Amino acid sequence: MYKLALIPGDGIGPEISKATKSVLNLVHDKYDVKFDIIEIEAGDSSVKKTGKALPDHSFQAIKSSDVCMKAPVGESAADVIVYLRRVFDLYANIRPAKVYPNIPSLKDSIDLVIVRENTEDVYAGLEYDFQDASIAIRLITKKASARIAEYAFKLAKFRKQKKSVIAVHKANLLRKTDGLFASTCREIAKKYPDIKFSEMYVDACSMNLIRNPEDFDVIVTTNLFGDILSDEAAQVVGSLGIAPAANIGDNFAIFEPVHGSAPDIAGKGIANPLSFILSARMMLDWLSMKNNDKKCSDASSAIERAAVKVLAKGIKTPDIGGSSRTDDVTNAMISELKAI
Ligand code: NAI
Ligand code: MG
Repeated sequence: MYKLALIPGDGIGPEISKATKSVLNLVHDKYDVKFDIIEIEAGDSSVKKTGKALPDHSFQAIKSSDVCMKAPVGESAADVIVYLRRVFDLYANIRPAKVYPNIPSLKDSIDLVIVRENTEDVYAGLEYDFQDASIAIRLITKKASARIAEYAFKLAKFRKQKKSVIAVHKANLLRKTDGLFASTCREIAKKYPDIKFSEMYVDACSMNLIRNPEDFDVIVTTNLFGDILSDEAAQVVGSLGIAPAANIGDNFAIFEPVHGSAPDIAGKGIANPLSFILSARMMLDWLSMKNNDKKCSDASSAIERAAVKVLAKGIKTPDIGGSSRTDDVTNAMISELKAI
């Protein structure tokens, strides 16, 4: 039995959480992967109720769980997820972008992963007011750059795709900070001679992600650039609504969609639940590796196959060109999972 802390979040968060819980219930029944799901209060709704985005009882409940799934929160994201990433040292933010059937993507054969450093850069929370200016400190360390680069090379080896890692930075201008990040990536690359290594400036990368996204395998980059490029990559393969993500540390992990709380569509019943369901799939992969639990990897591949079938049948929410609702996609996922 895995103790799973679930943050339902704000906006569309509760809608896609309900969908994901239904899928996990089926995984529980059919694949014998048992979850004890504990719902956690956090985000803008918690600020309204308790004055705190992440009350202590919520933090303690997450800390005592085996794993956490977090739906998007709203304006309090910095106090919830950015804080949790730092406190639990979840240094690797893994954001895959790949083509699913029947989705308007820019090219047919995109299958890339953005490996984003998750604990420092301008997200380290070092912002100050000074007279009539505001200053943010961009913190880049050799230690964090080395471990994220190691993660990227190991992932490239494991993926067996094009076997390439591209370090994305802006070292021509950010000579010290990105200079350190780039030189550290170069150093780590020497340990992996079978993986092709190259570098790209972030502005060129944002263009190339649209021009030739199929050429990318693993991108390793710093926190802010990874945040921006992963929204772009999600749209290149169709929508933020299908983009899952993982925040991974040495002992703990939090799984969440790439997107935010989508207030423009909240409450309308049309949010795409696949971003969070596919995040649950990433959680099952992580649990499978961490605990050598084959039931988790079986359930993960079943979710992937079910998503492919549901999309191939054209059961799609409006963000990917369909007219189905959140519940239709969820019910279709459950039927396919039952049939597999
Ligand atoms: P957003 O990612 O919430 O939305 C951008 C666009 O994508 C919107 O048009 C939205 O409708 C669409 N979209 C996102 N997810 C979708 C889904 N599952 N299905 C269909 N369409 C989807 O970005 P925005 O509007 O800039 O931010 C809204 C709030 O979310 C803000 O308060 C922001 O602070 C917060 N946020 C929280 C994050 C987190 O919890 N990790 C991450 C990013 C933003
Ligand atoms: Mg983002």
